Amino acid sequence: MKRATPLLTLAAILMVGVVSTGQAAESGFFSYFSLERKKEVMAINDATYNKECGACHFAYQPGLLPEGSWRKLMDAQALSDHFGENAELDEQTRSHILTLLVANSADKSNRKRSKKIMGSLNGATPLRITEVAYIKNRHEEIPAKLITQPKVKSLSQCNKCHMKADSGSFDDDTVVIPEHGTW
Ligand code: HEC
Ligand code: HEC
Repeated sequence: MKRATPLLTLAAILMVGVVSTGQAAESGFFSYFSLERKKEVMAINDATYNKECGACHFAYQPGLLPEGSWRKLMDAQALSDHFGENAELDEQTRSHILTLLVANSADKSNRKRSKKIMGSLNGATPLRITEVAYIKNRHEEIPAKLITQPKVKSLSQCNKCHMKADSGSFDDDTVVIPEHGTW
């Protein structure tokens, strides 16, 4: 029965993998090697989030910022003066959205774009996705007038140029800039 030992050891290692990934499906042992390791930022489909955080702009995927950024943004006081707007929420809604954002934030995601975002942050927790070096750099070559034009307004309006932004896809080959066209 000597040959059974390595097999049992392997089985034990795999079991540890299963147990340790139980709570973090996006960053665990198995997802690292599985189809979950995709390029796109993970799309979330939460009616409350889409309604409350998609009213004034695109409902940014949680995987576009780290937990620390979402905690700052979702602070009750901060929401009452959110980039000059009042985005206050009742406590139950605020807590629901914060939990959703934190559980799926960039630091917990295995997706390529989220990893690139984390890699360029060096521990910083900016309030804006557009301040993340990786995101900033990717947009450097776009003429300012294409960004500030009325049909886009600012770089924060991801979905005005990224046709598949809703599904978490920001590939440069699915960009169509208003009054300009494909990139
Ligand atoms: C009342 C309108 C309003 C609501 C509701 C709102 N926002 Fe915003 N948000 C803004 C404005 C205005 C900006 C700045 C946009 C700009 O600079 O063009 C902004 C910017 C942001 C940014 C930074 C975007 C960037 O430039 O990278 C994040 C992140 C963000 N909001 C998250 C949220 C979340 C999460 C919620 C839901 C809790 C939310 N917003 C709800 C108005 C709103
Ligand atoms: C004015 C139009 C416009 C807006 C608004 C915009 N982008 Fe982009 N984005 C582009 C273009 C054009 C490129 C391709 C740049 C290049 O390849 O030189 C790009 C590239 C990217 C890339 C890299 C894609 C790749 O294939 O490597 C990411 C990621 C990205 N954008 C995310 C975002 C996010 C997130 C937002 C909102 C916070 C946003 N973009 C807003 C036009 C835009």
